[in-house]
Amino acid sequence: MLPYGRQWIDEQDIAAVVEVLNSDWITTGAKVDEFEKDLCTYLGTDHAVAVNSGTSALDIAVQSLDIPPCSEIITSPFTFVATSNSILYNNCKPVFADIEGDTRNINPEEIRKKITEKTKAIIYVDYAGHPCEIKEMQEIAEENDLFLIEDACHALGAEYHGRRIGSFADMTVFSFHPVKHITTGEGGAVTTNNDKFYEKLKMLRNHGIDKPASDRHGSRRGWGYDMKYLGRNYRITDFQCALGISQLKKLDDFIKTRRHIARTYTELLDTVDFIELPHTRENVKHAWHLYTILLEEDRNNFFKSMRKRNVGVNIHYIPTYRFSYYQKHFNINPKEFPITEEVFNKIITLPLFPKMTDSDILAVVDAINILGDLR
Ligand SMILES: Cc1ncc(COP(=O)(O)O)c(C=O)c1O
Repeated sequence: MLPYGRQWIDEQDIAAVVEVLNSDWITTGAKVDEFEKDLCTYLGTDHAVAVNSGTSALDIAVQSLDIPPCSEIITSPFTFVATSNSILYNNCKPVFADIEGDTRNINPEEIRKKITEKTKAIIYVDYAGHPCEIKEMQEIAEENDLFLIEDACHALGAEYHGRRIGSFADMTVFSFHPVKHITTGEGGAVTTNNDKFYEKLKMLRNHGIDKPASDRHGSRRGWGYDMKYLGRNYRITDFQCALGISQLKKLDDFIKTRRHIARTYTELLDTVDFIELPHTRENVKHAWHLYTILLEEDRNNFFKSMRKRNVGVNIHYIPTYRFSYYQKHFNINPKEFPITEEVFNKIITLPLFPKMTDSDILAVVDAINILGDLR
């Protein structure tokens, strides 16, 4: 089965991990700092805090806003559940706003309609690696005194108006899960240019403690520390960060290959009349985490037939409000989200990962063409 996404680990990556495993510090050591510095350099941000998942990164980003319980945070329903779960972890209320049909990103006009006195923040998601209309997000935030968190778990290396995603929002969140642009196994990071958020994020990933273990190690160091916030253990290990450092060196090549695959799909599928191809707006550089198509008819049958042909198509995403947990607690009517519903009913993700060969791409296209001929 050709999966929809997967990692690419080479001998260099493995050697980097093994070197750390043979060293004294396998967690909270120098490799974590080095990975964070490399992320800052690549993204053009002042600070990065690496953690053990993108979900943890979202959680501490929301926690560090320090907003009152029951505050409302507006977000997209067309994303992985982690986005709005991070709002729930922090005793706030997710308020969903419908998406735009072409990019599947949250629609700024729909955000405006959902703002109330309780609204304190927006978490926008760069779906599939296509940046949102960030200028509009910033305008809305400024006009309504809201915080912005960018869920860029799909968008490492993407650009908006010629600048890399990473420093547009108050905090930006990345994931290093194996299907993402680079991997640390599990892992994530928050980037920010705000010194106060940075100091808080570092504590929140380590139980809310103000001094990491490395600052208490050595012949002249004392034992004291304070726990200032109720944080959790979201620390990432040094061997994961060694993998991240090594992977980051290859990120531009990974993205180049992702763009090549997306371009090839678009060229070869352009004339297939029963599918709609993804759109890319001007002024963005797409990071191509996902290549999704819309099917005019019988998406579920298409899904089954492609899987039977060993093409690991997938669905991104089941809208968050549809899950039983969300239905039980928020009882949201899907009809309030006509664009999300329409896209959800038609969408399919095709395989896209850097290790895919041209013959893999052709196998996917052939399977689609065969299904077209059978219609
Ligand atoms: C948009 C989005 N946000 C957050 C996450 C959570 O990241 P992680 O799996 O690293 O916890 C994901 C992961 O798939 C994601 O796609």
